Amino acid sequence: MSKSVFIKTYGCQMNVYDSERMADVLAPLGYRGAADPESADLVILNTCHIREKASEKVFSELGRLRLLKEQAAAEGREMLLAVAGCVAQAEGEEIARRAPQVDLVFGPQSYHRLPRLLAERRSGGVRVDTDFPVESKFDFLPEEAAARGAAAFLAVQEGCDKFCTFCVVPYTRGAEQSRPAADVVAEAARLAARGTVEITLVGQNVNAYHGDGPDGRTWGLGRLLRRLGEIEGIRRLRYTTSHPRDMDDELILAHRDEPKLMPFLHLPVQSGSDRILAAMNRRHGVRLYLEWVERLRTARPDLALSSDFIVGFPGETAEDFAQTLRLVTDVGFAQAYSFKYSPRPGTPAAELAAAVPEEVKAERLAMLQELLGEQQRAFNRGMVGRRLPVLLDRRGKRAGQLVGRSPYMQSVAVAAPDQLSGQLVEVDILDAFQNSLAGRLADPAASGLCAGAAA
Ligand code: 5AD
Ligand code: SF4
Repeated sequence: MSKSVFIKTYGCQMNVYDSERMADVLAPLGYRGAADPESADLVILNTCHIREKASEKVFSELGRLRLLKEQAAAEGREMLLAVAGCVAQAEGEEIARRAPQVDLVFGPQSYHRLPRLLAERRSGGVRVDTDFPVESKFDFLPEEAAARGAAAFLAVQEGCDKFCTFCVVPYTRGAEQSRPAADVVAEAARLAARGTVEITLVGQNVNAYHGDGPDGRTWGLGRLLRRLGEIEGIRRLRYTTSHPRDMDDELILAHRDEPKLMPFLHLPVQSGSDRILAAMNRRHGVRLYLEWVERLRTARPDLALSSDFIVGFPGETAEDFAQTLRLVTDVGFAQAYSFKYSPRPGTPAAELAAAVPEEVKAERLAMLQELLGEQQRAFNRGMVGRRLPVLLDRRGKRAGQLVGRSPYMQSVAVAAPDQLSGQLVEVDILDAFQNSLAGRLADPAASGLCAGAAA
């Protein structure tokens, strides 16, 4: 019997990937995607725990869904509610206790067991599965049930052993684990066969990848990227998120030698102060970060860099913060994310004294964002007048407009017919904004429009 599932995804690219894989697991049970939660037989919230008050947001969403569930029941339909992802992992029992309208709770490592969980739920009560199973879910996931589109995520690594003192990830995603290279290559080849042209390899600590290679050796990420570059149909490769301690020579060489590897790297540094980096247990100092940046830029001179920053970590002085601004000035980022520190229960930093007052955090964040914003605008302005390859993969805000990514991850909007969606086209960049670019198709006759018509 055909049923429908609506999956709402919060947070990072890994969650986007997991949501797609949950749909794959459910497809053999007859579940198709629902357009909205109102009509769905199963609603899954795939949650993220990284932001402040994450669980409160989940509880308020569950309040809204309870009404939908009651409405469905009044119409004689059953609607199942499930909470997945990192909030489920961290607070599974609490969810079961506080939100009895929830039928299933499962963590990021156990969704391959969804069919069993759904069957067991019939025996009543909220089914909670927040184990870290001994088996790897990747060994149990079915092949993709549907094509993924022009740009797709592919998980190669999961979990984190770094234990940065501010971060919940090691507790919600578990220990670091890499998929065998042959599995990754097979998944990438399947994606390519169904029309994907850009693959972003994802993992909490993706450059810590150390998977079993088909040659009996352990492959690092650089080796894996080179192998993926051989797949016909794949024209662009990216990876995220990386840790400075896990960069290595092979990965640097991949940036030099693998033309499909895009010149953009998200390499979070968090702070420009060695003292704060030590308190964060980052296992690297400013010098190591700057060394990697220099080596990466030597390998790939046009590499665009991105980072995450936390301001107001406990004990951060004005001088520590000034060092962060100095690092930003020294490196020059194409874009970056910045956050005020906020304690996450259960993490070591949550126990630290010397909290930075809220208004000081806010002031520092504004200063940092001002500087990062200036750098981003300058970087984007530098594209005006250039011709860039853009992978068009979504509709723009205006009618007749498509949007895609430049090699440097900028969003580029262009007037283009729908049949160019999914195609890599050349765009002349005409205008630049803080977060995006606008351009014109370089030569419609020579671009994908023509190739599409000929096919
Ligand atoms: N407070 C503020 N920012 C945080 N991040 C992770 N944990 C916290 C926290 N407790 C930020 C880091 C990380 C990004 C994904 O979220 O910068 O790289
Ligand atoms: Fe969190 Fe640090 Fe691991 Fe990144 S490296 S996921 S910030 S513990």
